[in-house]
Amino acid sequence: MIYLIIINWQLTAVVIVLTPILAAAVSLAAKPIHQASRNLQDSLGEVNGQVQDGIAGSQEIKAFGIETGRETKFRDQVKRSFTYGLKLAKHQSIIQFVSYTAGIMPFIVCFGYGGYLAVQGRITIGYLFAFINLLNHISNPLTALPHYIGQFYRAMAAYGRIQEILDVPEEQGGSAVIPADSETALEFAGVSFGYNDVELFRDLSFKVKKGETTAIVGPSGAGKSTIFKLIAGFYRPQAGTIKVFGRELAEWDLKALRQQIALVTQDPHLYPTTIRANIGCGQLGASDAQIRAAAEAAAAHSFIVSQPQGYDTIVGERGSRLSGGQKQRIAIARALLKDAELLLLDEPTSALDVESEHLVQQALEQLMEGRTTLVIAHRLSTIKNADRILVIDQGRIVESGTHEQLFAARGVYYHLYQTQLQQAG
Ligand SMILES: Nc1ncnc2c1ncn2[C@@H]1O[C@H](COP(=O)(O)OP(=O)(O)O)[C@@H](O)[C@H]1O
Ligand SMILES: [Mg+2]
Repeated sequence: MIYLIIINWQLTAVVIVLTPILAAAVSLAAKPIHQASRNLQDSLGEVNGQVQDGIAGSQEIKAFGIETGRETKFRDQVKRSFTYGLKLAKHQSIIQFVSYTAGIMPFIVCFGYGGYLAVQGRITIGYLFAFINLLNHISNPLTALPHYIGQFYRAMAAYGRIQEILDVPEEQGGSAVIPADSETALEFAGVSFGYNDVELFRDLSFKVKKGETTAIVGPSGAGKSTIFKLIAGFYRPQAGTIKVFGRELAEWDLKALRQQIALVTQDPHLYPTTIRANIGCGQLGASDAQIRAAAEAAAAHSFIVSQPQGYDTIVGERGSRLSGGQKQRIAIARALLKDAELLLLDEPTSALDVESEHLVQQALEQLMEGRTTLVIAHRLSTIKNADRILVIDQGRIVESGTHEQLFAARGVYYHLYQTQLQQAG
C-alpha cells in the first residue's frame, strides 16, 4: 500500500475510495444467503424427520393404508427443499458475479485513469505496470473475501438452528448429595404445576413415610406420571415445595438425587445395543452375575437365554426386536440392579401377560421390601398390597386410604374399582 502511494497517490486514492463501495456491494449481495441457507437447512431437517418417521412407523403406514398420503407429503417436502436449494444456488451465483466484477473494477479504473495519467506524462508506463502488478496483491485477497462472507452467512444459519438447543437453560441443582435424616421419604406441600401454562396440579399435598408402599390410581391423563417426573426433578413446580428424603428438590444435587431413585417409566427406553448393556446401565460396573441375578428377579432370564445370542442379543432401535412385555421386564431388571432407596414404578406390569405379571409381581414385592415405593397401578393385586392408595383425578388427590377404607367409602375409588380395576385385577 505504501509503495502504491509512493508510485502515484492519486491513483491509490481512487482505488482506496472504490474498495469500501465494492465491499458493500458484495456484502449486500451476500445477505440473502443467510435466509436461503436457513430455509434449506430447515427443510432438509424436515425431510430427514419424515424419512425417520416413515421407517419407524412403516407398519402403521401400511396397516392404515396411508402410503399415498405420506408419499405425497414427502414428495412435496423434497420439492420444497429442491426449490430452496435452487434459490440458494441463485444467490451464490449472484455474489460470485458481483464479487468477480468487484475484483476487476480496480484494474479497469487503473487502466483507464492510469492510462490517462500516462498520456499526460504524469506517470511512466513502467510505473503504471508496476502499480497494476502490485494492486494484484491487494485485490486478490479482497476478491476472495465474498466467498468467505457467503460461507459465514451459511454457517450463521446453521448455528442459529443449533443455538435453539444450546439456549435451553441447563438444569439447576443444589449441592446436597446425601439425604437429610428424615422419617419422611417424600413430601409434596402445596405443589402447583402445569405444562406450558395449562394448570395440572393446584395445591397438591401428600407425604410418604420411609419404607411405605403407596399406590397411585386415577384415570388416564390425571397427572400420575407427571408426579414421578416432578420427583425426579425433570420439571420444577410453579409453586410449593417437594422434599425427597427431607431435602427440598432445589437443595439436591440432581445427579445425587437421581442416584436415590429407580424409575421404571410407562414406555421404557431401550438402547440399540445388547440386552446385557441395557440392564447393566442401571449400575455402571455391574458384574455379569449381578446382571443375571437382576434379570432372574425380573422374570426376564428365561426369555433372554432363549434369544439367539442370549445376553449379547442386540435389541434393535428402541428395543424393536422385543415384545412390549419383554422390554418392560428388561426395564424392571435395570431398576432392580440400581438398588435405589426410592422406587418409582409407572404401571410396571401393564404390558405383561398374566403369567409373567405374576412372576414380576413377586420380584417387585421382594424389591419393595424395606424400600419406599410409589407405584402407579391399575392392577388390583398391586393396589391391594399397598400401605396407602392415593386417588388422583384432574390434578387433585380426591381420596386417600387403604383399599378397604376407600372401598367402603364408595367414592371415586369404588367407581374405578367397579369399572376398571376389577377386570384388570
Ligand atoms: N411434556 C408434556 N407437555 C405438555 N403436556 C403434557 C406433557 N406430559 C403430559 N402432559 C399432559 O399432562 C396431563 C397429565 O399427563 P400424565 O401425568 O402423563 O397423566 P397420567 O400418567 O395420569 O395418565 C395430560 O393431560 C397430558 O396431556
Ligand atoms: Mg401415565
